[in-house]
Amino acid sequence: MQLLQITSTLTVFCGLLVLTRAYDLVRDYSGITFFDEWDFFGSWDNLTLGDVYWLDESDAFSQGLAYINSAGNAVIKVDNTHSIQSPQKRNSVRITTKDSYAVGSLWIFDLVHVPFGCSVWPAVWTLGGPTWPEGGEIDVLEAINLMPSNQMALHTTSGCFHNYTPPNQLGATLVTDCSTAAGCTVGELQPNSYGSGFAAMGGGVFAAQFDVAGIFIWFWSRANIPSSITQSNSSSSIDISQWGPPSASYLAADQCDITEFFTPQQLIIDITLCGNWAGLPEVYFPACGDKGPTGICYNDNVVGDGSNYDDAYFEIPYIRAYTTGGVVPTPTAAPFDIISKVDISTYPGYGSVTIPLSAVTALDTGLHPSPMFYPGNGASGRYQVDFGLMIWWVLSIGAIIFIRLA
Ligand SMILES: *[C@@H]1O[C@H](CO)[C@@H](O)[C@H](O)[C@H]1NC(C)=O
Ligand SMILES: *[C@@H]1O[C@H](CO)[C@@H](O)[C@H](O)[C@H]1NC(C)=O
Repeated sequence: MQLLQITSTLTVFCGLLVLTRAYDLVRDYSGITFFDEWDFFGSWDNLTLGDVYWLDESDAFSQGLAYINSAGNAVIKVDNTHSIQSPQKRNSVRITTKDSYAVGSLWIFDLVHVPFGCSVWPAVWTLGGPTWPEGGEIDVLEAINLMPSNQMALHTTSGCFHNYTPPNQLGATLVTDCSTAAGCTVGELQPNSYGSGFAAMGGGVFAAQFDVAGIFIWFWSRANIPSSITQSNSSSSIDISQWGPPSASYLAADQCDITEFFTPQQLIIDITLCGNWAGLPEVYFPACGDKGPTGICYNDNVVGDGSNYDDAYFEIPYIRAYTTGGVVPTPTAAPFDIISKVDISTYPGYGSVTIPLSAVTALDTGLHPSPMFYPGNGASGRYQVDFGLMIWWVLSIGAIIFIRLA
């Protein structure tokens, strides 16, 4: 009798533990120790072929591109004070957590400002291994140029899909095969998830749940952040049961075996410029072609005094990583209407842009002549003409002349 009572008390107690302490905090990145547990890249952007040099740790601090501001928030930014001449690259930052987080993890990113503007390509994401995309990649926040809205994605080897869009997903599924160059992308439809709109609302919170049941990404504008998050602190656990529907809902069932395609993930934050998404002529030109005299991403943005990069920075109150050994709730299917959806259908670059490898190589030799960096590092450049790009320009100018004459 007594034993039974103790057992049932224990069961209730443990049940409460599972329900209310679903995720335990394992790492808090915030305040003056924010940068302690990250590695700095220390190379030009040889991955997405952008026009930046990602500084090492001591240069990033000494050049003021990584610091803690007076509000106690971490700032990561593009150099906006030095004059850059062709074919130099502009300095920026890319950081990766020293820790890797296994399936069963949850990450919360509180951001008050994200980088935006023509040529700017920021990302908050995770990566599972050195040989891309073998360990999987989760893009929580990624956007380019003047996009009105965030785009989420998974990248995997072949065999992982997002064919079935669950009714609780708030975003629009754009690409279903996660092994394509674009990844399986989902466009955010809620307002103010990126750019000047995000900043104007005081930013917001992104969260990603990395679970055997699936990968789920949420976004809340500052005013809509759930109380479980606003009331949490740098040591408390988190209960996600009241979070409501996610923006991207990648269910494992029948589509993607999470443990097969994703190894433990490291968090990455970076800002590049131009490169093989923001700088692709067919993506850049329709959005930002009137930004400067040449209509080319590098020439009209990266070159010059840098004052057009005043908005190219992250400001981060905290990033928190959580883990669970137990069963955690997966997102609820509560009915939810977005009152005014963002129209992402006309902005160039969402969804199905695929990047043939040959185009990447051509773009590299054309727009990114050689690994160049900050004045003083003594590198010498080698400029090669990109014939593919030249033909594109000749055709475009020809078309404009033809239209004028006609
Ligand atoms: C990029 O540069 C880093 C640092 O120099 C190097 O470790 C890495 O292998 C390079 N990656 C590629 C794809 O060239
Ligand atoms: C965090 O919140 C918990 C209650 O959830 C409280 O007990 C603890 O003292 C708080 N810690 C800090 C550092 O504020």
